[in-house]
Amino acid sequence: ANPSLLILPGDGIGPEVMAEVRKVIDWFGTQGRPFTVEEGLIGGASYDAFGTPLSDETLARAQAVDAVLLGAVGGPQYAGVDYALRPEAGLLRIRKEMDLFANLRPAQCFEALADFSSLKREVVSGLDIMIVRELTSGIYFGEPRGIHPDNAGGRVGINTQRYTTDEIRRVARSAFEMARRRGNRVCSMEKANVMESGILWREEVQWVHDNEYPDVELSHMYADNGAMQLVRNPRQFDVIVTDNLFGDLLSDAAAMLTGSLGMLPSASLGAPMANGRPKALYEPVHGSAPDIAGQGKANPIATILSLAMALRYSFDMGEEATRLERAVEQVLADGHRTADLMGPEGGTPLSTSAMGDAIVAALAR
Ligand code: NAI
Ligand code: MG
Repeated sequence: ANPSLLILPGDGIGPEVMAEVRKVIDWFGTQGRPFTVEEGLIGGASYDAFGTPLSDETLARAQAVDAVLLGAVGGPQYAGVDYALRPEAGLLRIRKEMDLFANLRPAQCFEALADFSSLKREVVSGLDIMIVRELTSGIYFGEPRGIHPDNAGGRVGINTQRYTTDEIRRVARSAFEMARRRGNRVCSMEKANVMESGILWREEVQWVHDNEYPDVELSHMYADNGAMQLVRNPRQFDVIVTDNLFGDLLSDAAAMLTGSLGMLPSASLGAPMANGRPKALYEPVHGSAPDIAGQGKANPIATILSLAMALRYSFDMGEEATRLERAVEQVLADGHRTADLMGPEGGTPLSTSAMGDAIVAALAR
């Protein structure tokens, strides 16, 4: 059977960047590597059609395919919608229901963009790190949560950071597995100095290391220091493993090391399926970018590189994944830039569609 892919374009620039991914998929089809592609709704698009940001039917299809590729969700028009029906709730729910507990965010510096990084070329040149963020637990999910009247006539907003042994150990395993295929080093980040969940995190990651991955080099770092080190000397890291909240912040900071949010793919992996590969959802790190939606300005590379990750981790198509990444590198080396990749020297930016065409042309060369 052909590899099956469920595409969920979502909102804002989601459908625009996904149209470019379809060009790449179609090109692989012409090369004798066809996919079975279905498309569905998520986020605001689903809310508008069905009154829910993720329908049970879409969720069932997501559970049945080899991989899901998602654009982005959200937009200012949904700001007044009840929290549980917000576009973002659809994203949180699909991650939770598929139990995608490990979020992989590579931060890789493309040589042609090294001068575009927020840091100096000599600090980021050759940078290749992987942040493994716990995705289904922690403070975004912990109970109790809510906004309540307090005793002084005001209100109190509550969220709870909560992690269990199993939740920490399984994401630690994902990080150690990843490290074995890379530079064999893991740095675990928490705040064990001020948080109980941080103390448990440190102990459990150490436990997994000592009992299951003694061959991998493990270090621990407070997450605030980690933020500083990421900016001071990011190449000291190979794999970073951290919780949901810190991973959200640290990976956004790492985004700026590589130039643009428009360049960053991600993978979210869960437990192995019957075919032995992990359940998986691939998506760009960026959001729906309402400020540029509908203008043909979005950079499709983050989503195209997310497809490359799907080829590698879900479809056993590592060679094709590398070929796609090289095509992106080539297009950048040739000087092609979407607006987000333009420096102060200016120039004429490529549209979303022209960038997709350039990548397909480079693939075909
Ligand atoms: P954002 O990532 O959508 O945009 C941040 C900035 O980066 C904007 O100036 C945007 O124009 C730019 N940008 C993002 N992706 C780009 C691309 N591919 N090409 C060129 N420029 C790009 O984050 P923001 O503005 O905080 O959130 C906007 C909406 O997206 C909100 O509703 C938010 O909840 C949602 N969101 C959704 C995410 C998801 O679906 N995974 C993740 C983050 C935010
Ligand atoms: Mg974020």
